[in-house]
This record gives sequence, C-alpha cells and structure tokens, in this order.
Amino acid sequence: MLRTALITGGSRGIGKAIVKRLAEEGYKVAFTYRTNKESALELEKQLSKKGYGVKCFYLEQSERESVKELIKSVAEYFGSVDILVNNAAMSQEKPFETITDDDWEKMLKVNLQGPFMLIQETLPFMLKQKWGRIINITSIGGQWGGFNQVHYAASKAALINLTHSIAKIYSRYGITSNAVAPGLVETDMSAYELTTEAGKKKVENIPVGRVAKPEEVAAVVSFLASEKAAYITGQTINVNGGMLFSFGV
Ligand SMILES: NC(=O)c1ccc[n+]([C@@H]2O[C@H](COP(=O)([O-])OP(=O)(O)OC[C@H]3O[C@@H](n4cnc5c(N)ncnc54)[C@H](OP(=O)(O)O)[C@@H]3O)[C@@H](O)[C@H]2O)c1
Repeated sequence: MLRTALITGGSRGIGKAIVKRLAEEGYKVAFTYRTNKESALELEKQLSKKGYGVKCFYLEQSERESVKELIKSVAEYFGSVDILVNNAAMSQEKPFETITDDDWEKMLKVNLQGPFMLIQETLPFMLKQKWGRIINITSIGGQWGGFNQVHYAASKAALINLTHSIAKIYSRYGITSNAVAPGLVETDMSAYELTTEAGKKKVENIPVGRVAKPEEVAAVVSFLASEKAAYITGQTINVNGGMLFSFGV
C-alpha cells in the first residue's frame, strides 16, 4: 500500500530534502510552501517528471483555517494523510532583552501552535486506520537553549514536549510520535548564523567537524516514517554531529 506523507515547508532546505527522499522511496508526497511558490512548483514538476506522485499546496501554519484547507485539499487529492512531518518553522536572531511580546507570540504561533493544529487535523485519518507517523522537526536549541534565539529555542523545547504527549496518548493506536533534533544544517535558516564569529566557533566545536547536509536529516525522517520504526515513539533523535551528547555538552 502506498502511504501518503505530508511535509510542511517543502519549498526549500530540510523540507525539500525530505520531500525528495520520501518521493524517491515511493511515498505519495504532499508538501507545502508559504512564500516560495515558484520553487515549490519547480520541485513538484521535477519530481513528477520522474513519475513520482508529488503535489504542493499553500500553507500558513499559524492559521487554523489554512491548516484545515490544506488537509481537506490533500485528502481530496491523495485520499489520506498517513505520515505528517512538521518541518516548517520560522527563526529570528535577537538579543533576549529586545524580544517583544509580538515576536514571542508569533514565534510560538508558527513553531508550536502550527504543529499542534496540523497534528489535530491529521489524527482522524491515522486513528481510522490505526496507523500513523508524526515526526516533528525540533532543534538542538530546544535541548540546550539559545543565546540570540530564546523564543525560537523555547518553541522547539515545547515541540519536544508535545511530541511526548502525543506518543503517550496515541501510540497504542499504531501512531508513533517522534522528534528529530538537528544541530546546524546548511540551509537558509542557518546561513546568517554561519557568517558570525559565534557561528564559526560553534562549527569548529562540532565533533564531526562540519555542519549537516539537509539529506542527513531526511534520512532519519525516512527511517522514522517506515514500518521498521514501529516500536520507536516519544523519542528525540539527534542529528547534530555530536554537538550535544545524551548526558550533556
Ligand atoms: N537549518 C538549521 O540549521 C536547523 C537546525 C535545527 C533545526 N532546524 C529546523 O529544521 C526545520 C527546517 O529548517 P530549514 O533550515 O530547512 O528552514 P528554512 O530553509 O528557513 O525553510 C523554512 C520552511 O518553512 C516554511 N515556513 C516558514 N514559516 C511558515 C509559516 N508561517 N507557515 C507555513 N510554512 C512556513 C517556509 O516556506 P516558504 O519558503 O515557502 O516561505 C520554508 O519552506 C525547521 O523546523 C527548523 O527549525 C533547522
């Protein structure tokens, strides 16, 4: 049976690598864009040419109506949502003292409430068939905090906790819930940080000696989405080149 995966934020970066990987593995793939419609359509075109079942949709994940509209469209097009990859997120670099209430609210809305609403709206499909995969892309920031991204780090820490709760409630119904926590990955999101002195120092201290490629995160998502990962739930899988070990820095 061909499963349908929905990946949020597939227009670039890690999401794009996940879209490619799951399409190549034979999943039907729905993915979203918000501002980068052209690159999303280009990716859809490229993968469709190869014969893969791929379609992109618009999503503003801080709005319930947009989430509902997305799920309705994906269900009409592919028939179901079996695997949800909550990848889309925003980031913002700012010293703690300058973070405003609006900054905080927006960050939590996009990075936490978005995945919450997406999980709520896709669960009915998974519950009906007693099979599902929820994979939330969190961050090392959610594990060890952040200097210039306190609100981002807090949103990602809460996403790990949401992952745990969903695992507690729904794993008995065949739905696993896991988080993947990258360290530093070569994408638009990390581009600025990697030009700063602090960013360069961070890279120097990575035991593997380099930042990750988006494909290295996609490989872990692919495993968690598979049948083989049926007994893994409530976990945070670290893809950080050794930046953070299980028992501390
Ligand atoms: N890059 C890193 O070093 C790193 C490290 C740890 C964790 N992560 C996490 O990995 C995930 C992917 O990161 P990335 O580096 O690939 O990010 P990215 O290159 O900045 O791409 C972000 C994606 O999210 C979408 N998006 C942003 N805001 C949205 C909103 N309000 N509603 C719907 N979609 C929205 C964007 O869509 P459009 O482009 O169409 O606007 C884009 O596809 C994120 O959860 C991030 O926090 C990244």
